[in-house]
Amino acid sequence: MSSTRNKLIEILALNNDGYISGQAISDKLQISRSAVWKHMKELEKDGYKIEGKSNKGYRIIGFPNKLSENTITWGLDSKWLGKNIIHKESTSSTQTIAHEHARNQAPNGTVIIADEQTDGRGRINRNWDSTKEKGIWMSIILRPEIPAHHAPQLTLLTATVLADVLSSYPLLQPQIKWPNDILLNGKKCAGILTEMQAEQDQIWYVIIGIGLNVKHTREDLSEELRHRATSLGMETEKDWSIQELIQKILATFEKTYELYLERGFGEIKEKWEHYGFKIGKEVNIKTMKEEWKAPFLGIAEDGAMLTISKDGHNQRIYSAEISW
Ligand code: BTN
Repeated sequence: MSSTRNKLIEILALNNDGYISGQAISDKLQISRSAVWKHMKELEKDGYKIEGKSNKGYRIIGFPNKLSENTITWGLDSKWLGKNIIHKESTSSTQTIAHEHARNQAPNGTVIIADEQTDGRGRINRNWDSTKEKGIWMSIILRPEIPAHHAPQLTLLTATVLADVLSSYPLLQPQIKWPNDILLNGKKCAGILTEMQAEQDQIWYVIIGIGLNVKHTREDLSEELRHRATSLGMETEKDWSIQELIQKILATFEKTYELYLERGFGEIKEKWEHYGFKIGKEVNIKTMKEEWKAPFLGIAEDGAMLTISKDGHNQRIYSAEISW
């Protein structure tokens, strides 16, 4: 895409509440008014909807139904999160790209999004199925000034953000399965992978990876996943807009994260427990060493699961497989 055209989309996208005159555009781009008009016609051919009014100028009223930096930025209600967006049609993993950018001083709030990941990564060295244009595969770079041992709180915070966004749709009742799976009707629709670079309890950067299954049909899921995974489309039989969901997630994330930095983890913990799956109920806990059944009592400030040990004492669990 020509850089003039990119700049034109950017000018129109950033001016999303009103019209901008042909003259102003031609001044900004240093091209003639007739060249501006020709570029507008090219954009329309590609699915951009542009309204032109003779005494007011131009404004964009619709984007093609395809993800790009511009389509995400247009209508994004955030102050700093996602102001720097890197969109890839295909990449190995947005986590890997995010690490590269973070090492090269990418600003706090940079977001990497891909239509497809060929080597998507899940927790505990698992892979993460990231089929083209079926879901949200994105990584957020944060540079929080918090002690490194508080970083797990960011994973729990992200889970509450996803649960808040999903529960804002009347058809969805998300739950969070410890530590960070988002469930719909008992099946996983989203996962979170948090990675960080830190030294002596000082964080250099944190990368929050979010994978959300949106448009998958049953056939899009592998045999292995079908009985335990789902997508928003499968749960609602509705056609979801990936772009709109990304914008809601980023706007909600920014608000929640700012509150967390200001007021601490208490409210996030409460919210997490509100959405917590099987809280107060008996679950099966499998650690590296043992397996037993015990009640899931809640979470601690450091994200640990609170339960009762095999020999009847209060216990904090940091890593385990939970089933029921
Ligand atoms: C999990 O195992 O539940 C976590 C899954 C995290 C997947 C996301 S998709 C975007 C980002 N890039 C990756 O390779 N993984 C995370």
